[in-house]
Amino acid sequence: MNKRRATITAVGHYVPDKVLSNFDLEKMVDTSDEWIRTRTGIVERRILEKGATSDLAVAAFENLRANSGVDPADIEVIIVATVTPDMFFPATGCLVQQRIGAKKAWAFDVSAACSGFLYSIVLGSQFIESGAYRKVLVIGADKMSSIVDYTDRNNCILFGDAGAAVLLEPSEDSEYGLMDHRLYTDGSGGDYLCMLGGGSLNPPTHETVDKKMHYLYQDGKAVFKVAVIGMAEVAAEIMSRNNLRSEDVAWLVPHQANMRIIDATAERMGLDRSKVMINIDKFGNTTAATIPLCLSEWWQCGKLKRGQNIVLASFGAGYTWGAVLMKWSLENPKKP
Ligand code: UT7
Repeated sequence: MNKRRATITAVGHYVPDKVLSNFDLEKMVDTSDEWIRTRTGIVERRILEKGATSDLAVAAFENLRANSGVDPADIEVIIVATVTPDMFFPATGCLVQQRIGAKKAWAFDVSAACSGFLYSIVLGSQFIESGAYRKVLVIGADKMSSIVDYTDRNNCILFGDAGAAVLLEPSEDSEYGLMDHRLYTDGSGGDYLCMLGGGSLNPPTHETVDKKMHYLYQDGKAVFKVAVIGMAEVAAEIMSRNNLRSEDVAWLVPHQANMRIIDATAERMGLDRSKVMINIDKFGNTTAATIPLCLSEWWQCGKLKRGQNIVLASFGAGYTWGAVLMKWSLENPKKP
């Protein structure tokens, strides 16, 4: 009997209108457009001025709904990947469930930082492969501007806000959909990329705020060294496990933290830059939203085509990292 597979049957995304450019940042901290471009590849990022992560998630879902016509009442599970939930609890997934009117769905959050979307689609696909559910909504959304210190030039240049969503359903053809995955965790990386304040370890006090412990902390150099190897290795691993040559892969969909990490991964896979989805220049690092944002953008402009093999790869806080191999099944959007 053929294996029952999950596949993406709808996509959508949302980015806020407000643009924060490198030139804007030059006026805020001691940095330069040239430094940011050459060290990271980022030119600008989006900022959600009013509202929270659930607003990004709901707007992404509304875009998905407009693209697909899915009825929220039919959705059975909602998974929201985020490190910037509206609140510790209830889960942002619960807020989204209520706001989109997905009355039948149960909902929860996944905290896996930049790998949150990969962890979540692998999780969602298990629900479908087991036969338990047929419609799983997976959203990656982060309002990174809510945990970034805009006086810290090391980090404030890197991040942006966005939300993006996919719908997972059983694939009609078992040759399409999520074919394989490799996911990893190495908790010894925890100290290098974290938010120390606000949790049960350091509940918020005047002191934690004075020490800026409610902001994201990153030792960029330390993370870079492992990310550049980790993301390239896992992408190469998923190719060799599935006997794929570089010509068999249509797209690399990488987490967008640094253009140099993306290039190293593409090089390891033997892929030309023309086969790499890159939007770091426009949006910076949007954490859990990054990978589905790429999928949605590329699908909406007709570049992501049914039958293409795509490799999604990420590396982030935890450390968490991984890769997913997918054969894309969604037909191009209908021309208006
Ligand atoms: O998202 C999930 C995982 N995260 C990542 O994958 C991020 C990984 N790390 C990185 O992408 C890079 O390490 C950064 C982009 C964060 C930093 O780039 P780098 O090439 O590693 O720079 P650096 O931290 O080694 O800093 C080099 C110099 C330093 O000056 P000195 O000590 O050499 O005098 C920094 O103080 O650049 C300085 N610097 C800046 N200069 C201008 C740091 N930030 C800035 C800035 N503008 N914004």
